[in-house]
Amino acid sequence: QYPRRIFSGIQPTGAIHIGNYLGAIKEWIRYQETNEDLLLSIVDMHAITIPQTASILRENIYNMAATLIACGIDPDKCILFQQSAVPMHAQLAWIFGCMTTMPKLNQFPQFKEKSEKMKDALLGIFAYPVLQTADILLYKATHVPVGEDQIQHLHYTQHIVQYFNGKYGETFPMPEPVISELTGRIKSLREPTKKMSKSSEYKKSCIFLIDSPDIIRNYVMKAVTDFTSAVTWDPETRPGVSNLIAIHSLMTDKSPEVICKEANGLNTAQYKALVADVIIEKLTPIREEYSRLIDDPNYLNDVLHKGSTKASLLAHECLTEIYEKIGF
Ligand code: ADP
Ligand code: NA
Repeated sequence: QYPRRIFSGIQPTGAIHIGNYLGAIKEWIRYQETNEDLLLSIVDMHAITIPQTASILRENIYNMAATLIACGIDPDKCILFQQSAVPMHAQLAWIFGCMTTMPKLNQFPQFKEKSEKMKDALLGIFAYPVLQTADILLYKATHVPVGEDQIQHLHYTQHIVQYFNGKYGETFPMPEPVISELTGRIKSLREPTKKMSKSSEYKKSCIFLIDSPDIIRNYVMKAVTDFTSAVTWDPETRPGVSNLIAIHSLMTDKSPEVICKEANGLNTAQYKALVADVIIEKLTPIREEYSRLIDDPNYLNDVLHKGSTKASLLAHECLTEIYEKIGF
C-alpha cells in the first residue's frame, strides 16, 4: 500500500572512481530514467563518523554534487540533497536510538572494523546503522540499493520497522534491499582479485572520473594481466583481462561475449589500448561537464537548496506523524 520509493546515500569522501560510477551511479541513472521515485542523499553526517577537515569536507560535498550531475543525475527528476540540510534525519535517529540496545548495535562487523583503527571508538560509528535507518524511514522508502556488505544494516532497519509498527501501529513500509550484483565487481587495475577502491595502497589501481585521458591511458596500459595474449572472458583464472572486459562491457552495454568476438586477433596490449579509448570516450563529456559545474558554485548551491527543500517537505510530514505517535 506504500508507493514504491528508492532511497540511496553516498558519502562525500573524495574522488569518484569508475567502480563507483559503474556499480552505483549508473544504476541510479537507470532508476531515474525509468521514472522511479528516487531520493539521493550526499550523506555528510555519515562522513563525519571519520574525523574530517572542514574545508575538505565542504569541497567534497560540492564535488560530489557536481560529479553526480555530470554523470547524468538530473535534480529535476530525483531529489538530490545534502543530508545535514535536513535536520530531521538527526531527530529521527535519536528516536530510533532510544529503541535500540547497545548489544544490538555491537554485532555489526563494520563497527568493529572501523573502530579498531582508532584509540577509542566514536559513538557516531557505533550508531551509524541508526542514522542510516532514519535516512531510509524518514521518506518511507520501500527499496534501498545495497551492496552485500550492507545487507546486515538493512536487516537492522527492518527490525526497527517491525518494532515501531508493532508498538505504534502501521507507520513504515518494510524496506527491501535491491542487491546490486555489480558491487565490488570492478577490480583494482593493480591487484585484479581485489575490488577497485580509493583506499587501495597502490597508485594506478583506480581510474577516477575526472582523470585526464593521458592518465587513463597510462593506467590502463599498465593494468596487471597475465602471460596469455588472447582476449578471453574468464574471471576466475584470468581476472586481469576479464576486469578490463567487464569495464568495457559496462561502459558500452555490450556483452563480454560480443566484446571478445570483436577483440579476436588482438593481443592484450592492443586490447588495453582499445579499452583506454572506450573509457576516455565515455568519461570525456563527464569530465567536461564536471569542470563546468564546479566553476558554478551558485548553481550547485541552488540545486542542493532546492533538493533539501523537497526532501524537508516529505521528512516533515513523516516526523510529524511519528511525534504524534510517540507522544511528543
Ligand atoms: P570505495 O571502496 O572506493 O571507498 P565506496 O565504498 O565509497 O567506494 O562505495 C560507494 C559506492 O560505489 C557503493 O555503492 C559501492 O557499491 C560502489 N562501489 C565501490 N567500489 C566498487 C567496485 N569496485 N565495483 C563496483 N561498485 C563499487
Ligand atoms: Na569504502
